[in-house]
Amino acid sequence: MDFKQQVTTALMGVLGDSLPADKVAQLIETPKTSDLGDYAFPTFILAKTLRKAPQQIAQDLVAEIDQSGFEKVIANGPYINFFLDKAVFSDQILTTILTEGANYGQSNLGKGGNVPIDMSSPNIAKPISMGHLRSTVIGNSIAKIMTKVGFNPIKINHLGDWGTQFGKLIVAYKKWGSEAAVKADPITNLLKYYVKFHQEDVAHPELDDEARAWFRKLEAGDEEATQLWSWFRSESLKEFQKIYTMLGVEFDSFNGEAFYNDKMDSVVNALEAKGLLHESRGAEIVDLSDYNLNPALIKKSDGATLYMTRDLAAAMYRHDTYNFVQSLYVVGGEQREHFNQMKAVLKEMGNDWSDEIRHIPFGLITQGGKKLSTRSGRVILLEEVLNDAVQLASAQIEAKNPDLPNREEVAKQVGIGAVIFHDLKNDRLDNFDFDLEEVVRFEGETGPYVQYTNARAQSILRKANQEVTMDADLIVSDANAWDVLKMLSNFPDMIIKASQEYEPSVIAKYALRLAKAFNKYYANSKILADDDQKNARLSLVKSVSAVLEASLALLGVQAPKAM
Ligand code: ARG
Repeated sequence: MDFKQQVTTALMGVLGDSLPADKVAQLIETPKTSDLGDYAFPTFILAKTLRKAPQQIAQDLVAEIDQSGFEKVIANGPYINFFLDKAVFSDQILTTILTEGANYGQSNLGKGGNVPIDMSSPNIAKPISMGHLRSTVIGNSIAKIMTKVGFNPIKINHLGDWGTQFGKLIVAYKKWGSEAAVKADPITNLLKYYVKFHQEDVAHPELDDEARAWFRKLEAGDEEATQLWSWFRSESLKEFQKIYTMLGVEFDSFNGEAFYNDKMDSVVNALEAKGLLHESRGAEIVDLSDYNLNPALIKKSDGATLYMTRDLAAAMYRHDTYNFVQSLYVVGGEQREHFNQMKAVLKEMGNDWSDEIRHIPFGLITQGGKKLSTRSGRVILLEEVLNDAVQLASAQIEAKNPDLPNREEVAKQVGIGAVIFHDLKNDRLDNFDFDLEEVVRFEGETGPYVQYTNARAQSILRKANQEVTMDADLIVSDANAWDVLKMLSNFPDMIIKASQEYEPSVIAKYALRLAKAFNKYYANSKILADDDQKNARLSLVKSVSAVLEASLALLGVQAPKAM
């Protein structure tokens, strides 16, 4: 059922060997409006070889072309416009979707290859930031998209659970902390101790020596230090887990920075053996001037290893453990240099697989056009944002559908879905503004709008109260059906594009377009009228719902059947 292939074949029949088939396929366009046909082929490229004006070429080719399977094929200036046979198309696409159901759009491009995805990766004892939220939902959606095209993603939460800050935290906790407070509200209180440490150490620099000493103890495996560290870690994780549960995101691994403690010597040794380590002001670095990059810092002057060293160890561990075909890092754009350096060092070490490592950066969330940051007091607590979104959704559902039995549950699906959708509908690299009222609206370019459209489709099917059958041809020919049918047929291509560009927004934008086209169809058709296309129209409604649900699923957004 590849209609573009049909166009290519028809063209190849008249082009002979003046152009190879893949080139022809590449040149085929999708016209902006359907009065120009469903596909168009520009003839300019042939003018030189055929020594004719493009207009003439278009006319000559149309006269010869095999038109079977098309409603018509016409010359339009320098273009050849192809109009598909709508009846055949309608039956084929609807039959395909009804048969394949949730598998529609599944492909096997990835051939089961492993793809570790480094995502979320917040820091212990600190709140999850909006940036971590973005990494979480983008990474989760990319994992689902990669699965749909046949890869095997491995979702890794590379927790920031090691570093000198733990020395400070231990000192602060021992001086000002309480076990009960940490248990009651771990992140808030641990952050408080940490902040207090930084206020106090201005006047009391000896605090820094104490912190360094505690971190050294921790690195040496001291029992008290280790026990405190692992307690801070697990309390923080419990807190993070609440948010992950709300978002419906699961991980395959929580191997964070600490996991690589015993795996860094081998990295440093390998660098040494290859003669790549150089001393610079007491620190050990790898020179990357050949790559136009700043040197990578491998060891500090006090011998402590760094973020970079841990990431090198992690990259090698992932390669050895998963034998990956690609390795992705969904991390904000501000760490671009870091990942470029990491790849360059791995390359210098002779690891050609470093070419398959990809940093997937993303833009910032702003409020009123300003960057959200902890320093300006603009810390937004994610849990609060999500709870507020659920409240707003609940209020709207109450107004629209007061009798909905499971309102609480649906409000969660809608409110949280709205936040996720808003994050994913923008091009990954764009900065975007976050205004909760806007995000949770039921109209406009929002998640709730897509969910609501799907619920509407489901409600039509409930009302129809008849099984959709495939016994007769599924031909829908009323006014706005054609746009919907064509859009349905684009879904597999959209998934492939999203997977190649690591861009969930391709799916989110597609879902918005499909929802809009369907609502237009719905407003202008008597779907439930008792005529001979009723079954076919219902199969269209069912197909739209299946594809909207599949799209939302790829974004990690739920699709309530009623709302
Ligand atoms: N914990 C880091 C941060 O919050 C992000 C870690 C990203 N992943 C990695 N492998 N470096 O900035």
